[in-house]
Amino acid sequence: MENVKRGFHISFEGIDGSGKTTVSTNLYLRFKEKGYLCFYTIEPTFMRVGSLIRLHASRIRNVPQYYMALLFAADRVEHYERVIRKKLEKGYHVISDRYVHSSIAYQGGLLNDAEWVRTINNRVPPPDLAIYLDISPEKALSRKKVSGIFEDASILTKIRRAYLRLVEEREVEIVDAERPLEDVLKNVIEIVEKKLNIDLT
Ligand code: TYD
Repeated sequence: MENVKRGFHISFEGIDGSGKTTVSTNLYLRFKEKGYLCFYTIEPTFMRVGSLIRLHASRIRNVPQYYMALLFAADRVEHYERVIRKKLEKGYHVISDRYVHSSIAYQGGLLNDAEWVRTINNRVPPPDLAIYLDISPEKALSRKKVSGIFEDASILTKIRRAYLRLVEEREVEIVDAERPLEDVLKNVIEIVEKKLNIDLT
C-alpha cells in the first residue's frame, strides 16, 4: 500500500456563540487555498446518533446530561471510526467543529464529573491540537441568537470554567475570542503553523 503521511486532527472548542464555526471554516478555507488536503466536519454529526442528539438538543429541555453524554460519546465513536480516522489515514488534515473536549466541558462541567465523561470517551484518540475560543458568556449571548438548551448565562459560566480547567491542564490551546474575527483568525493560524510546522500565510 502507498505510504501516505497521516493528516493532523485539529478541533475547535468554545461555548455557544464563541465564533468557532466562523473561525474553523475560515481555517479550512486557508488550508484549501494553500493546496493542502483538508476535511471539515462537525459534532454532533448528521449520522444516526448525531441526528437523534440534534432532535433532543433543540427540543427537549430537561434531558439528563448523563444520557446526553452517552449519546455524544456514541456519536463520536461512529464519527471517528467512519469519518475522521479514514480521512487522516488518507493524508487529509481534519478540522472538527467540536470533539471530545466539548463533552468534557459541557457534560463534565454540568455534571461535575469530568472523569466519567473522559472514561466513556476513551475509545477515541484525542485530537492532535484542540483550540479553545474563550469568550465571556455575556459577550457570547450578546453576539448570537443563541438557541438550544445551553443559552443561560449561569450554565455557560459553568461550561466556560470547565474549558478553563482544560487550559490549565494544557489539553487545549486558549485563544481570546472577544477580539475582532481577523485577530482571532490570525492568532489561530499562528498556533497551527507552529504546531504543524507549515506556512499558511
Ligand atoms: P453546535 O452545533 O456546535 O451548536 P452551535 O452551532 O449552535 O454553537 O453544538 C450543539 C450543542 O451541543 C451545543 O450547545 C454544544 C452541545 N454539545 C455538548 O453538550 N456536548 C458535546 O459533546 C458536543 C459535541 C456538543
